[in-house]
Amino acid sequence: MQSARGKRIYVQEVSARDGFQMEAIFVPTDRKVDYIDRLSRTGLAKIEVSSFVSPSAIPALSDAETVFQRITRVPEVEYAALVPNMRGCERALLAGVGELNLVMSASESHNRANLRMSCGESLAQFAVILDRVGTAAPVNASLSTAFGCPFDGEVPLSRVLEWISLCANLGIGRISLCDTTGMANPAQVRDVFATVRNRWPGLRVTAHFHNTRGMGLANALAAVESGVDRFDASLGGLGGCPFAPGATGNVCTEDLVHMFDAMGYDTCVDLDALLAISKDLPALVGHDVSGQVVKAGSYRRRYAAPSR
Ligand code: COA
Ligand code: ZN
Repeated sequence: MQSARGKRIYVQEVSARDGFQMEAIFVPTDRKVDYIDRLSRTGLAKIEVSSFVSPSAIPALSDAETVFQRITRVPEVEYAALVPNMRGCERALLAGVGELNLVMSASESHNRANLRMSCGESLAQFAVILDRVGTAAPVNASLSTAFGCPFDGEVPLSRVLEWISLCANLGIGRISLCDTTGMANPAQVRDVFATVRNRWPGLRVTAHFHNTRGMGLANALAAVESGVDRFDASLGGLGGCPFAPGATGNVCTEDLVHMFDAMGYDTCVDLDALLAISKDLPALVGHDVSGQVVKAGSYRRRYAAPSR
């Protein structure tokens, strides 16, 4: 195992997209803007701000343009948005997004449930979108259900590699492998990322885990030990896909940062600042959230010893 000491980890916050898309309430636009502006000042490498999707499919994110317009962008932070089709691409380009996050699933059934087309059609659309985007903004491709599909079950590694290869052939240099419904286990994660990194050493690879079955941090550990240095995570562990049965929250950002910090990795993230924002999350979304460190405090926390 390589040493963690000082190794840079890029933390990419997805709660404003993956999180808010699952919330029953509509988080008011000005509160989203304030939330993202606070996150921008914590040292995160990237923030996924919203989705340029159908407002009837995801009403919670129907204010994507306004949010992009009103946030104060910090130069060190990349501001991304999820884009499901050409219409979303045009909207994203107009809004000046910093990275277009295209999405397709590694499994047919989830792609149809989520995007209403086949995987082949999604890939064909990627090609058209890439042509349209040109050099206007970097493009990332997120492969949902890369570790298992709630409809089709096992997703063979060979199929994941095939989709990555097709994306790479289109000129996509950034790929996220997403465990949409928390089906991945650490042994599988190690195998997948070791293979991918070995085959495409220059590819910018992100691990995107959901904690649906409590394996989120264990999977992140397996990924980092396979050389992955980019992680999507969601404050308070919000998140989930409305078109995948049983989907629940992402791995929790502050818990992930806390673990990597404790191990000696350099996340560049101000954990205390993150925790302060996380404390305000229940009021923002109207329910308790699943983060652990915000409740227990950092491992550095000390209590006064009981007097004898
Ligand atoms: N932006 C705004 N509106 C869009 C849009 C986009 N990117 N893509 C589609 N629409 C609109 C259509 O124009 C249509 O509007 P109308 O009802 O007023 O005519 C409506 O959405 C539904 O379109 P439909 O023809 O049923 O489907 P579609 O093939 O055009 O769109 C999706 C399919 C997948 C793009 C759409 O259902 C969607 O955005 N889903 C959300 C996916 C998602 O975010 N999943 C979770 C994250 S992975
Ligand atoms: Zn997700």
